[in-house]
Amino acid sequence: MTHPTPDTSLHRQIERLTRQLESLEADRSNAHTLLDQARANLARTERERDQAVRAVNQLRRDAFLNLARDAEYRDGESPMHTFRIGVYAGLIATSLGCTPAWCEMLERAAQMHDIGKIGIHDSILSKTGPLTTEEWRIMREHPRIGAAIIGQSTEPLLQMAGEIALTHHEHYNGAGYPLGLCGNDIPLAGRIVGVADFFDALTHDRNYRKALPVDTVLSMIRERRGEQFDPQVVDAFLRISSQIKAARQRIIEQERFCEATEGWDGDWWMLA
Ligand SMILES: [Fe+2]
Ligand SMILES: [Fe+2]
Repeated sequence: MTHPTPDTSLHRQIERLTRQLESLEADRSNAHTLLDQARANLARTERERDQAVRAVNQLRRDAFLNLARDAEYRDGESPMHTFRIGVYAGLIATSLGCTPAWCEMLERAAQMHDIGKIGIHDSILSKTGPLTTEEWRIMREHPRIGAAIIGQSTEPLLQMAGEIALTHHEHYNGAGYPLGLCGNDIPLAGRIVGVADFFDALTHDRNYRKALPVDTVLSMIRERRGEQFDPQVVDAFLRISSQIKAARQRIIEQERFCEATEGWDGDWWMLA
């Protein structure tokens, strides 16, 4: 009986170890490939999730905006009211030196300011005569209703829209509603939209009264500086009153164009 020489035995051990090492290398390479695939799958899933979240947020914004336009329409306003408020608010914020991104967000969020009117009965909203005390009490609920409709959102635009819906009727001196907030306790977006809404509401015909001349409304805003309105917002607004007047005129002309143009199948805001 022959025995392997020590050299032969060592050689076999080295061969076996080499095969094991090769097998481990192959396993490691497979594991790397699987890990790369898992990372790619995770990145794709995250991209798809982000796209879905963006799409849902866009749908929510569109739904809120449509509700807000519907509420204004029922209140005897043209759908342009929401659009004009957005434009004026953006111009005022720019005049105050706010960042372009903030101004752009405000321009969109401001358009939902009266979304809460959707919860007010037509008999009050469309009434042509003066409201009774009880009807005013109900009407004054629209900021709270609006904030509740928009709800708590993690999206900055909707957070701002909720804040505006709740605070656009607060007065700088605390005499506003629904919370009676004072001064800078009223969020800046709400203080800006308060001025924009006042200007727009009084410079256009409503169910129950005729529009006032633009310069008269500008004087009324000046008189309310530091009382109803934040003095800095009033100053910023009056500094750019010629831009506000020009924007107002441009929007009125766009609206007339849409009304007069047969076959125009777009919406007025597509012209803006
Ligand atoms: Fe309002
Ligand atoms: Fe309004």
